[in-house]
Amino acid sequence: MNQYLILQHPGHNRVYFNYSGELALGELHIACTKLEIEFEKLEIIEIERIRYISLKTNNIITEKELEYLSRLSFIFAIFKANTDENNQISLTPVPVFQYEYVDNKISTILKYAGKTNESFTKMMVNIALLSSDFSYEDTIELLDPVAGKGTTLYEGMVYGFNVAGIEIDKKPVHEMSAFFKKYLETERYKHTADKRQIFGKNRSEAVYIDEFEYSVNKEDFRSENLRHTLSMVNGKAQEASNYYKNSQFHLIVGDLPYGISHGSSTNEKSNSNTRNPLELLTLSLPHWDKILKVGGVVVISWNTFIIARHRLFDVFTDNGFTILNDYPYNNFEHMVDKSIKRDFIVAKKTS
Ligand SMILES: C[S@@+](CC[C@H](N)C(=O)[O-])C[C@H]1O[C@@H](n2cnc3c(N)ncnc32)[C@H](O)[C@@H]1O
Repeated sequence: MNQYLILQHPGHNRVYFNYSGELALGELHIACTKLEIEFEKLEIIEIERIRYISLKTNNIITEKELEYLSRLSFIFAIFKANTDENNQISLTPVPVFQYEYVDNKISTILKYAGKTNESFTKMMVNIALLSSDFSYEDTIELLDPVAGKGTTLYEGMVYGFNVAGIEIDKKPVHEMSAFFKKYLETERYKHTADKRQIFGKNRSEAVYIDEFEYSVNKEDFRSENLRHTLSMVNGKAQEASNYYKNSQFHLIVGDLPYGISHGSSTNEKSNSNTRNPLELLTLSLPHWDKILKVGGVVVISWNTFIIARHRLFDVFTDNGFTILNDYPYNNFEHMVDKSIKRDFIVAKKTS
């Protein structure tokens, strides 16, 4: 039997940290299942008052498995534990795989009211991929239909995915585009930027997309397969299939509006009809179903103080999705602050 001890990334706020052990166990469980790692036990343990996630496996973890595990949202350091005849534990560091296509600082630079925690976003992206029929080796297309200023998009970029967002408010779209253009220039990534109308017959109906193509070096940019895309539509989640192609996306991941206002930047008027997750999902899922590939997955988080988990199930099943609801999928609910208790649903398009 082999034991690995994992130190969790300290990038969580204090309230969230208390729950983050359970969330990490869940994410690790889903990863081990996908990778077919035979594990005896996953648990939280303390050694000298330091908390570790403990993974006991039947076999030594292979390099390929380590490459996948390194991407999990909570990984800070991994150790192989050895217990001697006197029950003394010694820890040997296991090198964590460097997988980032772009530096992960991209999703941490911007700080703003209403931003979704980066580690939480990364966890949703991972769980979406690990629950789908696809892997990190595929050229993944990821959509966040309620994108805000793009945390999900940036987390996807770090994995080298092509990423797309829809956001109803003009201001975050504008700020996100300006930030991203500046980022590409500062990092000296080869890129093109384009803004064009993608929907609407007249000026009042016009919907615009900001689209970037980029690659981290000039050589890659010459080849269409090695170029990456980021696009952002200033439009509505419930009209997604007007903007994007049928079966375009492998993953749809988003953090729905929380039903509370995050300062003056929120445009209450344009959001007022979409503050209720059930309403938004009822209108949106037929569209998301069209643009998602078979084998693809939707992961949506929301504030359970607004609506209970089980009340969202029917709208997914009515649209042909299969909800993954066995442990650990049913164990991710956690407090964020006194007005937000967050959970997420993982739903797969199986046919
Ligand atoms: C919880 S925030 C997402 C924050 C984002 N993950 C980030 O870190 O920047 C939800 C976002 O959904 C947007 N929104 C609300 N209703 C929408 C709709 N019908 N279509 C698209 N976006 C919508 C809100 O304006 C808000 O920016």
